[in-house]
Parts: sequence; structure tokens; C-alpha cells
Amino acid sequence: MIPVEIVTERLLLDLPVPGDADVVTRYCQDPLFEHLLTTPWPYTHAHAESFLSAYVPAGWASGSELTWAIRDERGGPLLGMISVREAQNEIGFWMGSAHRGAGRMSEAANAVCEWVLAGGIVGATTVFWRAVEGNLGSAKVARSSGFRRIEPVNPTVPTRDGGTLPAWYGVRESAIDPRAEASWNDLLEVRS
Ligand SMILES: CC(C)(COP(=O)(O)OP(=O)(O)OC[C@H]1O[C@@H](n2cnc3c(N)ncnc32)[C@H](O)[C@@H]1OP(=O)(O)O)[C@@H](O)C(=O)NCCC(=O)NCCS
Repeated sequence: MIPVEIVTERLLLDLPVPGDADVVTRYCQDPLFEHLLTTPWPYTHAHAESFLSAYVPAGWASGSELTWAIRDERGGPLLGMISVREAQNEIGFWMGSAHRGAGRMSEAANAVCEWVLAGGIVGATTVFWRAVEGNLGSAKVARSSGFRRIEPVNPTVPTRDGGTLPAWYGVRESAIDPRAEASWNDLLEVRS
């Protein structure tokens, strides 16, 4: 697939490039990433270089994983990253710590879901989200971007060392389920 840009009200989602390696390396030192993500840990500049020059283009070429840089404007610095994996159309994301709390990730996640479900990924009727149990920030993004919480038996998420952890799951369809927002009430209103 040829990389696709997505424009939202405030954001440009475009191809992450080797020139983004310094900021990616910096943001991926975030201690939250050690337990919440499967990015390498400790994270080095070489990890960012190979991710940006090999993994990201290969993912677009094969369609196995479509990855976007989140920027405020064309040519602007990378603020965060979002991707969709072919397997189950699963969305994943992180935002650089300096840029959190401004609704950017919710806006980006909603836009990526709309693109996927409008035929960006042929035949896709759902987008899937999961996060390590307790990741309230990610669950709030899922709620704000139209996901409905689902509770399958034994929900897990893979860890970087090949294990699994208990997880929270959500699903997004093109017509947002009217019960979607309320499905997060138990999880978020009580605990946040
Ligand atoms: C989760 C994450 C991407 C959110 O990014 P963001 O740009 O702050 O997201 P938004 O500004 O759209 O915030 C969405 C909601 O989450 C809340 N939020 C953001 N980060 C939070 C955190 N660490 N803890 C609790 N709430 C958080 C915001 O206040 C907002 O709440 P609201 O919906 O009630 O208004 C970011 O915190 C992050 O990168 N975390 C580490 C990586 C990670 O967990 N990735 C997801 C893996 S599944």
C-alpha cells in the first residue's frame, strides 16, 4: 500500500521518516513505555533508525502495519505515533509526554478509525483496541474515539518478552454504537 496522509481539524498524520529518529528516541525513554508498550526497552537511537527506515516502510508496503506520525503541521516535529495492524485491524498509539492531555490522540485515533472503516483497509468493518489492564489514559482515548468496551473471556495483551498480561478490550464500528460511551462507565468514572 502507498502511504496515505490523514488530515484532521488540528493534525496531520503522515509517514514517519528517518529524520524523526531523534524525537522518537527521546519520547521512547518514557518510563510508562516499559510496562504499557512493546517498544524495545531500553530504547536506543539504533532502534528508532531501524524502525523508521525499515519497519515502517515495510509495514506500508505489505499492508501488515500502517504507521503514521502525528504532527501539528506539515514539516513539523513528530508529536506521537499511531498504527493499525493488519491482524484484527488493531490500533496502537503513543503520544510524546510533552504533548499529552490536549485531545490530540483522541482526534488522531478517531480519524484513523474513520479512514480504516471507510475503505482505507478493504473489507474492514471493525477496529480493535486493547491495552494493559489499568492503562486509564489509553482507555480514555478509546472512549473518546468511539470504541465500545468488550469483555471477552481471558483478555490478554502480549508483552515484549513473549508473555501476556491481563488487558482491556474495545471495538469500533463505522456507525458508533449508541451504548459505546456508557460502556466505559464502570472502568473510568469510578477509577479516574
Ligand atoms: C494514552 C496516551 C496516548 C494519551 O494521549 P493524549 O494525547 O494525552 O490523549 P488525549 O489528550 O486525547 O486524552 C484522552 C483522555 O485521556 C486522558 N489521559 C491522557 N493521558 C492520561 C494518563 N496517563 N492517565 C490518565 N488519563 C490520561 C486525558 O485527560 C483525556 O481525558 P478525557 O477523555 O476525560 O478528556 C498517552 O498518555 C500515552 O502515550 N501514554 C503512554 C503510551 C500508551 O499507554 N499507549 C497506549 C497503549 S495501548
